[in-house]
Amino acid sequence: MADLAIIYDRVRPDEKMLFGALDTLGVPYDKVYAPHLKFTFDAAGAAQVPWKVALERCVSQSRGHAVTRALEAFGVRVINPSHVIELCGDKLATNARLFAAGLPTPRTGVAVDGEAALELIESMGYPVVIKPTVGSWGRMVSKVNDRDAAEAIIEHKEVLGGPQHGIFYVQELIRKPERDIRAFVIGGECIGAIYRTSEHWITNTARGAVASNCPVTPEIAELSVRAAAAVGGQIVAIDLVEDPSRGLLIIEINHTMEFKNSVATTGVDIPRRMAEYAIGLEQMS
Ligand SMILES: Nc1ncnc2c1ncn2[C@@H]1O[C@H](COP(=O)(O)OP(=O)(O)O)[C@@H](O)[C@H]1O
Ligand SMILES: [Mg+2]
Repeated sequence: MADLAIIYDRVRPDEKMLFGALDTLGVPYDKVYAPHLKFTFDAAGAAQVPWKVALERCVSQSRGHAVTRALEAFGVRVINPSHVIELCGDKLATNARLFAAGLPTPRTGVAVDGEAALELIESMGYPVVIKPTVGSWGRMVSKVNDRDAAEAIIEHKEVLGGPQHGIFYVQELIRKPERDIRAFVIGGECIGAIYRTSEHWITNTARGAVASNCPVTPEIAELSVRAAAAVGGQIVAIDLVEDPSRGLLIIEINHTMEFKNSVATTGVDIPRRMAEYAIGLEQMS
């Protein structure tokens, strides 16, 4: 049993790269398959949790959050901590923190009822973007051009959706160039960034956008580090869009960042930097 655990539920290319980086560094670690974990909150349970530090990499956000909570109960320092997952896993919670920290985001509104949502959208003016507060890979991120579309989306969310879809998270559509920016922050330092370019306005690489190197300007570095600090994120990726008049705006913060497309692109060994950060925490504890 090692001091460091990598908690995963699927070995993506990203996890393979992370394991590779740790192997290269010669650091002992345990690969821990989250679906096989079970905990009892007693001495026997504690004896099964030997790790000082854990890097949580679950694809399932709810699973990753639950395991993080449990490990923290046994004194494990999890990257990222559960309170960070709670903030980053929920776009409304993230935006509330960014707003409180005075950081720039697209103009955003929220309503918790269909009728109020329609009023909110009408008052913001078309087009707007409606997106689930919990989600990723650009799923269900919707551009709404007129009242007919707004009514249709609101009704579908109300009739088909579970409790989460009763929250209407609405943003102005930013007229960005055909790309956005993803900046990687580890331990309070912006270590690299990529452009994600697509003809489609949704620029997730999971949706076919192409990654290329984005030089880390002082503005990108400052904003992304401040955004990470606003949610307490230790290893996070910040999505930014370029507004033609206002400059960079923060869209969201990802707490289990994917980086497989960004290592060759940026020339930064992101998995190694992650591994070194985790080892650093291990040595401090
Ligand atoms: N308000 C907006 N204006 C313009 N483009 C947006 C806006 N919100 C999201 N997008 C685009 O959609 C993508 C996905 O949105 P995001 O909020 O990051 O959700 P996800 O968690 O699914 O990645 C962004 O990377 C960006 O390209
Ligand atoms: Mg995103």
